Amino acid sequence: MDTRRIRMDSLHIDRTAIRQAADLIRSGELVAFPTETVYGLGADAMNPEASGKIYKAKGRPSDNPLIVHIARHEDLLRITDKVPPQAKVLADAFWPGPLTMIIHKNGDVPRETTGGLDTVAVRMPEHPVALALIADSGCLIAAPSANTSGKPSPTRAEHVSADLDGKIAMILDAGPVGIGIESTIVDLTDNIPTILRPGYITKDMLESVLCGEVRVDPGISALEHSETTNEGVRPKAPGMRYRHYAPKAELTLVEGKTDCVVEEINRLVAEKKSEGKKAGVIATDETKAVYRADYVTSIGARTDEEAIARQLYQILREFDRLDVDVIYSECFDTPRMGGAIMNRLKKAAGYRILHAGTKSRRQSYGEEMSFHDERIP
Ligand code: TXA
Ligand code: MG
Repeated sequence: MDTRRIRMDSLHIDRTAIRQAADLIRSGELVAFPTETVYGLGADAMNPEASGKIYKAKGRPSDNPLIVHIARHEDLLRITDKVPPQAKVLADAFWPGPLTMIIHKNGDVPRETTGGLDTVAVRMPEHPVALALIADSGCLIAAPSANTSGKPSPTRAEHVSADLDGKIAMILDAGPVGIGIESTIVDLTDNIPTILRPGYITKDMLESVLCGEVRVDPGISALEHSETTNEGVRPKAPGMRYRHYAPKAELTLVEGKTDCVVEEINRLVAEKKSEGKKAGVIATDETKAVYRADYVTSIGARTDEEAIARQLYQILREFDRLDVDVIYSECFDTPRMGGAIMNRLKKAAGYRILHAGTKSRRQSYGEEMSFHDERIP
């Protein structure tokens, strides 16, 4: 299949192109489009065959449900018989925006779209191109991130092309996205609203609007601390169980005080170089100059978490292109979005995290290091 890529200015939307893309969606074809978080791979959510094509193009496991994208709040009534009161409150506060809600589905939503679940994920994106496409198509648009399964989510149309050219009908290219990591997912089907995937909208933001407790899925932190042997603590969102966002090179995160981290990474890089391996480092503006690796890239200023989120996937993809053998990255536990950023980065690293600590610990690094690879069932 020939994939058409149409460039478009978010501020001056090309209505003819939107019409062509909407026609494709209505006829059951796949169109990639920008959202404020990452690019999505869209299909008519109520057409099981169209949803099926998404799984095929991405190579996505069929039990990993899709997010349904809507352009008007009232479209919630097309996918559920009962809108939970909390959904209304959250929609008023955060839609259009990077928040996905899980609610009970009605009989109209095909099981292909929800990976066989009785619940459905829904969000109203903020990007003008996404909203124009959904509205013009008259459809609800099922859209996962527009990457091949297992690759970093696409933050530019070039990333979509690299993964999906020849497999989908069209890509609407409106340049780089604004946020760079996927939406926050909150599950409203339990008594207490539960975050299944951290994102730009934080727990504090949700709690302040709901005036009540919001939980974080224990399965998320269990994964991050490799406690996945206990069945009860598996992440609730199927997609959070897979090893996603994996760069080709082995990625290791190094945490600790900045000067210890720099010293440790330089030591590791020297070790790898002596073995004839090519090393890359993900640094910050503050530390970029002090590393001695083959490739050093800055993710942004240490305190600029929006820049860090926006650049993360682009940098992981760039390292794939550079063909390095190993990558070392600093950790970015920034106050607001740090949890969401580190969630993605830890996943990309297959939870390979190393603590650069005191001198004696660094010296005994060989024994102390514990790499937990691919723990996810
Ligand atoms: O920002 C985003 O959310 C982007 C843009 C395109 O909107 N989309 C996105 O979709 O990240 P995807 O498919 O890459 O991630 C959807 C996540 C998966 O982890 C999936 O398992 C989870 O949402 N999910 C979908 N429906 C669910 C449900 N009914 N219950 C629990 N988790 C669900
Ligand atoms: Mg995805």
